[in-house]
Formats: sequence, C-alpha cells, structure tokens
Amino acid sequence: MELSLLGFINLIISLNMEYQKIILMLIVTSICVYWIFFLPFEWKERYSLHAGKESILRNDTKRLTINRFRKAKQHSSNKMPPPYPNGEQLVVYRTQNNKVFIVDAYCPHLGANLGVGGRVDGDCIVCPFHQWSFRGSDGKCAKIPYSASVPRSAQVKSWTSQEINGFIFVWYHVDSTEKPWSLPLTINDDQFIYHGRNEFFVNCHIREIPENGADNIHFNSIHNECFMSGKMGKSSKFFQYCHHKWNSSWIPSKNYKHFAEIKLSHALQIFGKFYCFRMDISGLQVGPAYVCMEINSSIFGTFRIYQTITPIEPLLQKVIHRFYGPRWLAPFMKIFILGESIMFQRDVTIWNHKDLLQNPVLAKEDTSIKKFRMWYSQFYTSNSKSLTDEAISIW
Ligand SMILES: *[C@@H]1O[C@H](CO)[C@@H](O)[C@H](O)[C@H]1NC(C)=O
Ligand SMILES: *[C@@H]1O[C@H](CO)[C@@H](O)[C@H](O)[C@H]1NC(C)=O
Ligand SMILES: *[C@@H]1O[C@H](CO)[C@@H](O)[C@H](O)[C@H]1NC(C)=O
Repeated sequence: MELSLLGFINLIISLNMEYQKIILMLIVTSICVYWIFFLPFEWKERYSLHAGKESILRNDTKRLTINRFRKAKQHSSNKMPPPYPNGEQLVVYRTQNNKVFIVDAYCPHLGANLGVGGRVDGDCIVCPFHQWSFRGSDGKCAKIPYSASVPRSAQVKSWTSQEINGFIFVWYHVDSTEKPWSLPLTINDDQFIYHGRNEFFVNCHIREIPENGADNIHFNSIHNECFMSGKMGKSSKFFQYCHHKWNSSWIPSKNYKHFAEIKLSHALQIFGKFYCFRMDISGLQVGPAYVCMEINSSIFGTFRIYQTITPIEPLLQKVIHRFYGPRWLAPFMKIFILGESIMFQRDVTIWNHKDLLQNPVLAKEDTSIKKFRMWYSQFYTSNSKSLTDEAISIW
C-alpha cells in the first residue's frame, strides 16, 4: 500500500466509525503529548509602559524615550544612579566554528553598520558597504578587497565576551583597566533540558529589578495571593483559601565580591493551616543583571531558572527567565512557568509605576535593602556616565 498522506486519509475514511474515533483520539493524544513533553513554553510580554498606559506596543519612538528621561529628571532631589547601557552600538556574530564575537557596530571606513547587511567570513565580519573585513578576535581590519594595503588605524573595538548555556555575556566596564570576572558555569547536567521562558519589558532603572531579591518583605506582600487569581490587585473568591507563604534572606557572598546569595523558601497554604508544595530556592546574583536560581521541591526534585536583564534604554529593561529541568517534569514546568510569569507580572506592575528613591524611608526589617544598595554600588565607579542631557542626545 502506498504510504502517502492521501492514502492514509482514504484508509481512515474506509474504516468504520469506531476505528475512526480511536485513530482520531490517538492523533489528538500524540499531539498533546508532543506539546507537553517536547515543545518549550513561552510567555512573551511585548508591552511596555508609556504615557501612563500599560498595554501599548513596545515600539517606542525616540520622542517617547526622551519624554521618559525628562520625567525621571524632573525629580531633581532624586539623583539617580548611572543607568546602563551607555549608548554603545555593538554587533554580535557567530562564526561557522561556533565562536561568538562582539565588536563595535560602525565601520571606521565610512561608518556603515556592520550588523545591518554585514556577513560573516571565517572569524571576520565583512562590512556591507565596501566589503572591508574585520577580525573578531582583535577587531583589526584583515582585508580590503580593492586595496593592497590596510591603513593601520582600520580597526573596530572587539569586546570581551563569554557564552554560557547559550547566553552571551559581554564585559562592560568604564575603566578599561578592570579585569573581567569569570562567570559561574551552570548547567552541566545532561538530564536537564530547556523547558521555556518568559520575557518582559520593564520601565525602570536596572537596579530596581535585582533589588527585589533583597526586599524580603515584598514576597509575602505581593506574592501572597494564589497565582491562579492572576495579576496584582485581582483577588479571586475562588482562590481565597490558598496563599503562598515565603521566608527569605539576602547576603553578599563570601566567595566573590560581585556575588550575592538569596535564600527563599516557599509553601502553599490551604485553608490557613495546611501546607503543601514546599520549595527551597537558592539564588546566586552575579553582577548587576544575572541571577542563577536552583529550586528543590519535595515532589518535583531539582530544576533551575536563569534571570537575565538586558538594558534596552537607560530606563527600559528586558527581563528573561529561562527554565531548565529533567524532561519528565515538562507538564509541571508548563504550569510553573505560567505561575512564575503571573507572579513576576505583579513586580513589573510595581516597577512600571514606581519612583526611584535614593533615600528611602526604611523600617527596621528592611535593612537588607540598604545592604543591597551598598553591594550594588560596586558596579559603578566615579567615571560611570550618569543620566545627563548628553546621554539623552545619544538616545
Ligand atoms: C512596530 O510597528 C510596526 C508597524 O507599526 C509593526 O509592524 C511591528 O510589528 C511593531 N514591532 C513590534 C516589536 O511590536
Ligand atoms: C518560615 O519560617 C517559619 C519559622 O522558622 C516556619 O515556621 C515556616 O514554616 C517557614 N515558612 C516557609 C514557607 O518555609
Ligand atoms: C537541593 O538539593 C541538593 C541535593 O540534596 C543540595 O545540594 C542543594 O543545596 C539543594 N538546594 C537548595 C536550594 O535547597
């Protein structure tokens, strides 16, 4: 018998109803099983805040960016810590040997953007305009196709970068003498697969997001309502007997100055007295924008979440959580990613609308916020560029 799709359909039509039902059910079940176990779950929030509205497409014009700046600057008593990034334009490319290079985007010849129409040739990136080739390792121009000599100053800056678990990190420091840190190696467990991610655009200063790790009180205050009741401020009658309970602590790490450790424990409280679904979470904050979390659950074993913050503009951050665990956890991970996304959305709502206070009024129980800010200040030097009108003109 010919095994074409048409033949298969004809075969099914010729069967009696009972068999047809069974085959249909098998097909639907296999699609579901495939979706559950083999497809990652993705939650993407393509919205950001501006003009006071939360659900406007992230397609901001320069004018809106400048307006956000002006608004932030209006709080003149409020000296904001320097934001990232600082206007650098970079191009990231991968060679056929799977090496990643990051270089300045503009060709020193006539200023074409290497990232728009440029192509990769060996370890080099070739400018789309006059085909000059730049080596990724040192940024030097290796070839000008129509010239026998290469001017000595034909060079782009090559940035130090490292790829871990498919994330590409670039070393940025205003003081060029500083040595790059090494990053902790992470997933080395073959049993762990990628289960999905969520992505958010958040309108706030970059420091606000990791600061939550040290804000021990906020867990029980905004993450207490059952995740099933949804976004912040939506308490549902149906889930009123179900609450998340948290204990947390934050301390700078003893091993490395640029590490800090978060310990978090979670339990789901039902009818105010039964506890279930306990989890122990240990988070390692690495530098200003990267957090590795390991989660131990009594029922589901161990899985991991990686949080990265990519500064898009001085007051606009892209936050991504990526989830990893054994394959058999897939059905649970889909629910977990959904729950975590809803929980994180509550933080996003706060960030999108809050003010950044340099001298907050703190209660005795809030001391780790103060410690966090001291720890975070190591990521700035006196040379860090602050939010000035000059910075606005770059953007
Ligand atoms: C930006 O706007 C254009 C057209 O107005 C649209 O096609 C595009 O999808 C938008 N981009 C994003 C990221 O929303
Ligand atoms: C938090 O700590 C208290 C006191 O040590 C303990 O009774 C409670 O079970 C802990 N809660 C969680 C969620 O671990
Ligand atoms: C999870 O369990 C492993 C093995 O028992 C242990 O080494 C690790 O410290 C635990 N992590 C957390 C966050 O409790």
